[in-house]
Amino acid sequence: MRAHWGSKLGFILATAGSAIGLGNIWRFPYLLSQNSGGTFLLMYLFCVIFLGYFLLSSKLTFGRIAQTNFINGFQKVCPEKISPMWGKSAGFLTILNIILVSSIYLIVIGWTLSYVVVAGQNLFHLADVNVNQGLFEKVTSSYFGQLFWGILCVASCCFILIKGVKGGIEKASLYLMPILFVLLILMAFWSFSLPNSSKGFAFLFTPDWTKLGFHSDGFQLKEFAHIALLALGQAIYSLSLGMGVCFIYGSYLKPDVDIKKAACWIVGLDTCVALLASCIILPAVFAFDMPANQGPGLTFITLPFVFNQVNGGAFFMFLFFILLFVAALTSLISIYEPIINLLMEKKHMKRWKATLCIAFTNILCSMIILASFTKKWQIKLLGRDLFDFVDYLSGSYTMGLLVLIYCIFMGWKIFPQIMDNLKIKNKWLNKYFLLVLRYLTPLVLVVLFFSA
Ligand code: PFF
Repeated sequence: MRAHWGSKLGFILATAGSAIGLGNIWRFPYLLSQNSGGTFLLMYLFCVIFLGYFLLSSKLTFGRIAQTNFINGFQKVCPEKISPMWGKSAGFLTILNIILVSSIYLIVIGWTLSYVVVAGQNLFHLADVNVNQGLFEKVTSSYFGQLFWGILCVASCCFILIKGVKGGIEKASLYLMPILFVLLILMAFWSFSLPNSSKGFAFLFTPDWTKLGFHSDGFQLKEFAHIALLALGQAIYSLSLGMGVCFIYGSYLKPDVDIKKAACWIVGLDTCVALLASCIILPAVFAFDMPANQGPGLTFITLPFVFNQVNGGAFFMFLFFILLFVAALTSLISIYEPIINLLMEKKHMKRWKATLCIAFTNILCSMIILASFTKKWQIKLLGRDLFDFVDYLSGSYTMGLLVLIYCIFMGWKIFPQIMDNLKIKNKWLNKYFLLVLRYLTPLVLVVLFFSA
């Protein structure tokens, strides 16, 4: 018997838990800060509202119709005979993406946990590290230290996953997601109360039209495309669209859940969290005149420096990294689930065995990437260390490619079934869904591949 969600709220929180992760709290604020704040925000909102919502609803629906794993799903739902290549290529890309993204995720979630511990020690004046001086170097230079924290996070995921869809993923989300929202709101109050934070808000909410290519002497398509593609890539990542997660979470759905409404909640929560995280980080960084455009170091280097300057900073740093850890944990759980489901259905494995299989594979791949990252083992691909290369490959190509396969399949092969299951009656909405799946997303993604 296939597992199902116990309640609509459980499903929404579990899917929002997958969507809300490092992408919202770590990646989104630094992308914003590197791409002139309000400009990127505007583009991102556009991508999420006009493409992301429709892709998410369709993928959840495809999963609900299929009620099976991400390889068999293609054959099962298609009324006409289709080539097994659909299932095979989507299956291969899904497994590849899961391995790539989870390897990076495990390392970064490990950093998060070590920051929680350092902030906790600071709180009781026990830490021997000064947050200002090389905390990040200290955390990221130790191979076994990073591995240790990463393995601890994987163990927490396995503990939850082994208990199943309803008793594990759904139950954990019902507890963890409210904790995450409370922490976010507490942190937002802290950031609002900082003097001079208004500069950060102005940066966040004022678009610079010239960065979008609108100059007084004409329009620069290249500048526009650069930001548009970054924003779409982030939307795909943030809504967990490129790894079979939405498909599998949809396949656990009962027919009575209104996916149109549920997807509104998921997209809304995901976007609000990304916005709130930026409202916490950027005003705090601006309030202390720190450089905001530090890229990935924004959260792990610049922000701790800010915490160190304010009264009660150790406490807020502790809260912030717990928040980041909880968000990342619910996402890592969702990254494992499609493979667990596949191994259970195709190889008839018990749930615990399938969970351990993906966990060990994840740890092994992260060990290799960590070896290159800590310079224990000098591997470079296309001039990048393995960490950068894997992040680049999944972010720029393989996730987008999988979304492309799903879009073409849903738009050209099973579109009437998707609309029927989604219960879309409005003629214009139906047409817009068709436009997004058949033409708009594939076109934009193809442009993305060429420009990347
Ligand atoms: N959406 C997650 C985040 O924003 O951190 C990352 C992610 C999770 C991507 C699950 C893809 C996925 F299938």
